[in-house]
Amino acid sequence: MAAMAQYRNIVILTGAGVSAESGIDTFRSEGGLWEQHRVEDVATPEAFARDPDLVLRFYDMRRAAIQTKQPNAAHHALARLDSTWPGNLLIVTQNVDDLHERAGARRVHHMHGEHLTAWCTACDRRPRWTGPLIERPPCPLCGASALRPDVVWFGEMPYGMDRIHAALREADLFVSIGTSGAVYPAAGFVRSARELGAATLELNLERSRGSSWFVETRLGPATELVPEWVEEVLGC
Ligand code: APR
Repeated sequence: MAAMAQYRNIVILTGAGVSAESGIDTFRSEGGLWEQHRVEDVATPEAFARDPDLVLRFYDMRRAAIQTKQPNAAHHALARLDSTWPGNLLIVTQNVDDLHERAGARRVHHMHGEHLTAWCTACDRRPRWTGPLIERPPCPLCGASALRPDVVWFGEMPYGMDRIHAALREADLFVSIGTSGAVYPAAGFVRSARELGAATLELNLERSRGSSWFVETRLGPATELVPEWVEEVLGC
């Protein structure tokens, strides 16, 4: 791949692997979340209709857990890149934790939602939310007891696909960090980027399902690979 410093418009896709070294479970690795819980029980609209307590308890547990975790060196390196990069840059994260922002990154888009907001299905607004939802607390904006986790469940449309596609059209470099490439539409971004002429780089612990679409793949922990790559891009 050509020298990193020559690129101007960068899209960075992150997944659970970027937060793994902060102590947040990934989904599909050994002992991961989807080994502990069935997707059908906790991460679909049907599951919520069938057993809302089970679903709310699952997200209450995760919402409380992420607030005890800290950003790691990968989050900090990406925040540094975001604060100094003169060109276009968008961190498209599949993660629902706030570690990118707590590290200082600003150009972040949560395509699968966020733990620290709730979605009121009565007024369709998303108030900041750090506590549990199991007691069905009233929406702080409209008073209705209609709050649900602001997380995109399987079968639901991810957030801001227009914004993501616009960034991909502009990008001359697409970088994927800590994702298995198991879930669409995120898993298809590398192909779109490649077909639009962008260079493509994967930073991951192991090869993802979409590895063959990347011009370059670097294997290792995010806390090592990401700071190294950011140094390269910033040329210092
Ligand atoms: N450093 C780099 N990569 C890592 C690390 C690490 N320390 N630890 C794990 N990984 C890699 C794994 O090798 C794997 O490829 O991160 C990836 C995590 O994959 P998943 O658990 O499948 O998570 P992700 O790709 O983010 O899942 C996508 O699926 O369940 C849904 O909505 C959920 O956003 C999620 C989506």
